Order: sequence, then C-alpha cells, then structure tokens
Amino acid sequence: MKSPIPDYLAHVLEKARPNEGGAAADYIETLAKADTSKMAVALAMVDGNFYSAGDDNIEFSIQSISKSFVYAIAIEDAGLEQVLKKIGVEPSGDRFNQLSLERSTNRPMNPMINAGAITAHSLVVSPTANLQERTDRILKVLSKLAGRELHVDEEVYKAELKDADRNMAIGYMLKATGIITCDPREAVKGYIRQCAINVNVKDLAMMSAVLSNGGVHPVTGEQIIPHTSVRQVLSVMTTCGMYDAAGDWVSNVGFPAKSGVAGAIMGSLPGQVGLATFSPKIDERGNSVRGVAMCEQLSRDMGLHMM
Ligand code: DON
Repeated sequence: MKSPIPDYLAHVLEKARPNEGGAAADYIETLAKADTSKMAVALAMVDGNFYSAGDDNIEFSIQSISKSFVYAIAIEDAGLEQVLKKIGVEPSGDRFNQLSLERSTNRPMNPMINAGAITAHSLVVSPTANLQERTDRILKVLSKLAGRELHVDEEVYKAELKDADRNMAIGYMLKATGIITCDPREAVKGYIRQCAINVNVKDLAMMSAVLSNGGVHPVTGEQIIPHTSVRQVLSVMTTCGMYDAAGDWVSNVGFPAKSGVAGAIMGSLPGQVGLATFSPKIDERGNSVRGVAMCEQLSRDMGLHMM
C-alpha cells in the first residue's frame, strides 16, 4: 500500500508557500542569489523509514546547523570538561554574530552563537591542529551522519571569507581573552569552511535522526556520536538553537532545532524523528520564515511537541 506521508508532506509545503515574509541572506553574495521559490521537507524516523517532498535534492550550505555537530566533535576530541571550561550553555538572547562573552567567565555564552562555534571549531582534533586537519575531520563525521560524501562549496566559502570582518573580530576577541589559543584567522577560516559544507534536506533529516536515536545511525546501526554528547547537543539546541527566537520556538514548536542562514532548519525529537525543512527566505533573527511555518504545522499535526 502506498504510504500517505509523502502526500501529507507535499500538503505541508503548499500550506507554508503563501508565506511571503523574510528575504534571502544578503551578506554572503552566493546566498543572496538563491532561488527563493525552492522549498523542501524531509522526515527520517528512528526506525529507518524516510519520507521527503518538494525540492529535496537541492543543495545549500549547512551554515549554522554545522554548529550542533562540531560541538559534538569538540566534546569527543577535547572532552566535555575542557569544552565546558571554554563554552557556556546559557542562551544569550543576542544575535548569532554578537561580539559577546559571559561576564564572569569570559566564555562565549553557548556553542550556537558564532563566538561559541568558533571556539568549538578550534577544539576539533586538537588546539594545535591546522585548518585542513579540522576540515577533514568535520567532513568525515558529517558525511558519515548523512550517509554520503559531503563537500565544501568553494564559492560560498570564498564569498563569506571576503566579508568576514565581524567573525574575524570575534576570533581576535577570543584569542585576546585566552579562550582560543590557535591563530584566530585559522579558526575563523575553518569555521567558515564548516558552514560552507553543502547538504540537502534529506541529508539533514538523516543527520538529525542520528541525534534523535541516541547517536546511533538509524540505517547503518553505527554509534557515530556518544550518547552523553547527544544529550549535551540536544540540550543546547533546545535553549539556544533558534537564537533570540528560542523561547517562542520551544513554546510553539517544542522540539530541539537548529537553523542556518541558507534557509534550512533541522529538528530532532528524541526517540522519534529527525526532520529538516528548506526555504531560503529568513527573518531578522536568521530563521527561515516558511521553515518555521512548516515546523509549526508538523509539530501540531504529528504531536511533536515535547510537552
Ligand atoms: O557566521 C556566519 O555568519 C554564517 N556563516 C553562519 C551563520 C548562520 O547560519 C546563522 N544562522 N541562522
């Protein structure tokens, strides 16, 4: 019998389409040129079933969604204790690229804002590793999670690097306060490379399903992320993943999620499903407008709210 779920997902897409708010991110040239009519949604169940609809083969850069996984890799490579010394777990209430540190400790508030993400990147492999070694490690883990080989989009990387003053300023702030110990330019370049890894919604849903499944890949059965790291990642996604919209998100949608400026949202409901949406127009907080609408709909219809 044909599953009704793909038809349902197509319906979710069409319901969100009339939402004309937001605009494609314009501070990265390549993203500004995105076709804003493209939309997609995918669901990866923890039992291995998979459904998608819309432009589900369209690739886009992962952007800030990479922060969730790089935080997990940093925990594995540096140990949770060391990571917690360098990066907090409190929501900042600020924009994602705010130049801010926690007053009492000098740590970035959390790993989902750029300051915390650049710090997490600097801990991948080891604090003395170079850009290539860190990029290779990140690509290897992300590819394993997606179940196919992922690549950096060099055009997106170069476009963002041209206009990286703000992230460079964050890098120098982190170096000046002793939070990172490596060359800040290398850490920022590496962070921008991790953001420029191309994925589609099917990849993101599968990557998210690994988080939902306690770190075990639902198809291959491989434990890719240790369970303790998954718990840490999903906790900060819940409180900080949607930036200064995190409170609205948790009350309306109610599952851990992470957004990226290319227009994707990745959501993870532990024990049940990994999901992803894509639509390039984002709001002033950096979250996809139609993506938020699709997630609200999915949460209501499928009872995905944690409470
Ligand atoms: O640091 C930046 O500006 C980007 N490469 C990533 C930002 C991002 O995706 C923010 N999320 N919504």
